[in-house]
Amino acid sequence: NQQMNHEVQTFVFAHRGSKCNRPENTLASFREAVRVHSDGIELDVHLSIDGELIVIHDEKIDRTTTGKGLVRKMTVAELKRFDAGSWFKEDFRGEKIPILSEVLSLLTDLHFTGSLNIEIKTDKYHYPGIEKKLSVLMKSQQWPFTHLYSSFNIDSLKILSEIEPDVELSYLTNNRLKKIENGLLTDFITSIHPRKSYAFKHPVLTALSNKPVRLWTVNSESEMRQAFHENVAGIITDYPEQAIRIRNQIQK
Ligand code: G3P
Ligand code: MG
Repeated sequence: NQQMNHEVQTFVFAHRGSKCNRPENTLASFREAVRVHSDGIELDVHLSIDGELIVIHDEKIDRTTTGKGLVRKMTVAELKRFDAGSWFKEDFRGEKIPILSEVLSLLTDLHFTGSLNIEIKTDKYHYPGIEKKLSVLMKSQQWPFTHLYSSFNIDSLKILSEIEPDVELSYLTNNRLKKIENGLLTDFITSIHPRKSYAFKHPVLTALSNKPVRLWTVNSESEMRQAFHENVAGIITDYPEQAIRIRNQIQK
């Protein structure tokens, strides 16, 4: 294998924290992501009925907690009653669903200086006002880390481009690469986060895109190697520790 000299390494985002060995989107998961030196951390946000930014992947709490029901129909106090760790492994009993400000405090305490990738989960429900709330919180103080917003919903990114003009906005795509290939992506989108299977099958994406491309969810060693050899801007992975080890072997 040819040795390459990389000025910039592929950026490794920990997907929902260190999802491979911690309950996703919990403080334990983010703490582990920082411990293994993830360059970035991805998390998902929804809105509770009382307007708090709730860090969880699904619209419902059923899969990742001991409770049941829709996040948007429950208050923070109700959401906090359930356990968000024991479903994954009994060792993690005691983890709660975090609100975003708790994650920001944790990352500050841990001196995280990477990038926080806040995915706005407005693809199923609209959560009116979620963009403004996010922006107000992120601008409320100087955090030691940078942040970007990502979403499958281009309308959420559009709103953020108006209220937080210099922020990085990443468009998540499953398969709508035609738009990118045809150069139809609007200017306010600053980076593209495509599903890996699609991007690997369509290398034209990287070639034609003048914006950084970061793939998800890159979990197998062979996919990681491919991404690092292709020198993509970033990957989003459930296995941040492994990814960083392999990346550092390939991109010296
Ligand atoms: O950031 C990529 C990824 O998080 C998008 O899909 O469903 O895991 O939030 P999902
Ligand atoms: Mg996500």
